[in-house]
Amino acid sequence: MRHSFLFLLAIIVFSGNILAQGNDIDKSIDSLMRLMTLEEKVGQLHQITSDFAATGPITKDGEKQDRVRQGRVGSYLNVTGADRTRSLQEIAMQSRLKIPLLFAQDVIHGFRTIFPLPLAEAASWDLGAIELSARIAAKEAAAAGIHWTFAPMVDISRDPRWGRVMEGAGEDTYLGSQIARARVKGFQGKAIGDTDAVMACAKHFIAYGAAEGGRDYNTTDMSWRRLYEVYLPPFKAAMEAGVASFMNSFNDINGIPATGNSYLLRKLLKGDWGFPGIVVSDWGSVGEMVNHGYAADLKDAAKKALIAGCDMDMESRAYTAHLEDLAGKGEVSMQMLDDAVRRILKKKFELGLFQDPYRFSNAAREKSIWNEQSHLEAARDIAKKSIVLLKNDAPGKGKNPLLPLSNYANKKIALIGPLVKAIGDNNGFWSYSWPDDSIRVVSLWRGMVEYLGSANQLRYAKGCEITGTDTSGFAYARKMAAQSDIVILSIGESAVMSGEAKSRSNIHLPGMQEQLVKEMVATGKPVVVLISAGRPLVFNWIADNVPAIVYTWWLGTEAGHAICDVLFGKYNPSGKLPMTFPRTEGQIPIYYNHFSTGRPFKNDNDNNYVTAYKDLPNSPKYPFGYGLSFTQFAYGKIRLNADSINPDQQLRVTIPVTNTGSYSGEEVVQLYLQDITASLVRPVRELKAFRKIKLSPGETKEVEFILTANDFSFYQEDLSFKAESGKFNLFIGGSSAATEKATFFLR
Ligand code: NOJ
Repeated sequence: MRHSFLFLLAIIVFSGNILAQGNDIDKSIDSLMRLMTLEEKVGQLHQITSDFAATGPITKDGEKQDRVRQGRVGSYLNVTGADRTRSLQEIAMQSRLKIPLLFAQDVIHGFRTIFPLPLAEAASWDLGAIELSARIAAKEAAAAGIHWTFAPMVDISRDPRWGRVMEGAGEDTYLGSQIARARVKGFQGKAIGDTDAVMACAKHFIAYGAAEGGRDYNTTDMSWRRLYEVYLPPFKAAMEAGVASFMNSFNDINGIPATGNSYLLRKLLKGDWGFPGIVVSDWGSVGEMVNHGYAADLKDAAKKALIAGCDMDMESRAYTAHLEDLAGKGEVSMQMLDDAVRRILKKKFELGLFQDPYRFSNAAREKSIWNEQSHLEAARDIAKKSIVLLKNDAPGKGKNPLLPLSNYANKKIALIGPLVKAIGDNNGFWSYSWPDDSIRVVSLWRGMVEYLGSANQLRYAKGCEITGTDTSGFAYARKMAAQSDIVILSIGESAVMSGEAKSRSNIHLPGMQEQLVKEMVATGKPVVVLISAGRPLVFNWIADNVPAIVYTWWLGTEAGHAICDVLFGKYNPSGKLPMTFPRTEGQIPIYYNHFSTGRPFKNDNDNNYVTAYKDLPNSPKYPFGYGLSFTQFAYGKIRLNADSINPDQQLRVTIPVTNTGSYSGEEVVQLYLQDITASLVRPVRELKAFRKIKLSPGETKEVEFILTANDFSFYQEDLSFKAESGKFNLFIGGSSAATEKATFFLR
């Protein structure tokens, strides 16, 4: 009797307008929480995986559906598809209070349509295109019943050994923050609750990308100043863009696991920053505090995580097993537990799930979005913009750069290498494969055949595998090269060589591939090398001996089309590296914005009693921000509106940039700042702004930047963010090695 009365009350409270807002939601949550038992509250904090697509080690309990029916599960990950999500939601609707489930998924770079790896997209420096890629991913995922993506990963990383660099925006805090904002806006669209949007998740909070030795899940230890200056800003940017959730990281930081870190989660994120959304643990990271030796057992881990501010437990089963008891005994406060429940319920209300728990699981919408042509067009657009042209010299004694291949459109082309006909690899790590991938994903081979109209001009040899020592395919590859006018090699990593748990101590091009390139060069034919990878690789011989090198990362569904657009000059490449490429692993960590030292080096030959290696030049193989075009850009003199400014004034910086070549092209004009003398040691230069401009041959544009006190500020010893008066250098150019310089004073 009492139950049916409560039910009625609940129905009255929830039957508001379709998407209740602000106060209405808070009132509805108050009413609902008054009805909830402790067990049901704890249930909301429990997230489990479906078994059909696990993304981590599974703890099987075999009775998941019963738990849902009992109102003891708040969220599922790894359930997708309108029908599947609907049928699980139907079970949740059998629970006493009918609280809907949240369906979460790693929608990292596309869902049905796969976009380039996030690191590749970062190379486009095109915030609009990056936002659009996330927008489309959200539309496709939302139609399959997904409410929540575990993206964007906004971890800064300066270590290409770390396999997860493929999932982020690279090494730079400023670029990473801009991209974090764009991705959150893309995923969340106009508003959470729209059925074409998903909740985003800024992950992994924090310093996961600084894992020692680049080894995934490893420890991190760093100064607070570095944490504030380098690692936190992209998270802050995501929050300012309205990100609905944060995920904590696996690592400990300065001795405290991120999942149990009260200072980071409760004080900084929820307190100082006022983050109103959900904090979810990473997979099993609550329980892993026992392995860290930070919690005595699973119960202690549950207690520490909740107190620290972790609202939802992904797959540790720690909250569901122990929070009732802990709360009952007063070992965790009801107020903290209620706050976590409230944050989760709030998102369910904002998503409109109380009004219609099935509103995302719409089979008709899912079907209609399945073959949306404009999504493929957008994927091709950002794929070509993500490609980085690393080298483009004239072959042999010739004068003209090898690319684009306009002169070879009617000639014989040898396509050589283990990745020429790859299909699934193009999707990269953290992607979905679909039954029609073999037709939908455009391989390099298919892109070429379509571009040329047939395979008549093409010769093909695999040459070797990606890994291993077998060279028996070299002879046939040589034969194919001999029959052709040009050789295009497609080599690199396989897609699963970069990603979670894919750290590598050796990031040289794997297997016999470099040897295969040498064989091709030895034929005397002009050689173009395409390198696909999820991270910066080391390939010095190729870099020094092959006339044309194109870094293609993994570009997604439209890979082959995008690569041909660039090779044949339909699109003039404009990508710029979002990470420094080392000469060898021994240079790692390597990043352009390192601190000034007491013994700086002047050039690559300068290694005596300065900060340098005896056996390696100081410079990287390719610097951050680097990338060529088929045309050339000339930078004029920097002009400033004043030689000195007060902190409340703006500095207006302009520079003329001219396209001096013969192709129309885009250039990413980058502005770097150096604080010459300060109360703390400062980086040799830091990216503070960029503009991507398009210029026709002969055209000049005045590029303008406005700098404010914020740009000159940095985290002081006491972690306040302030600018100091003094002298600054400013550099503008097409990479972090920019030489055009101006000096000014902040008064
Ligand atoms: C572990 C990964 O670290 C995280 O990024 C991902 O979202 C979860 N697994 C769920 O798959």
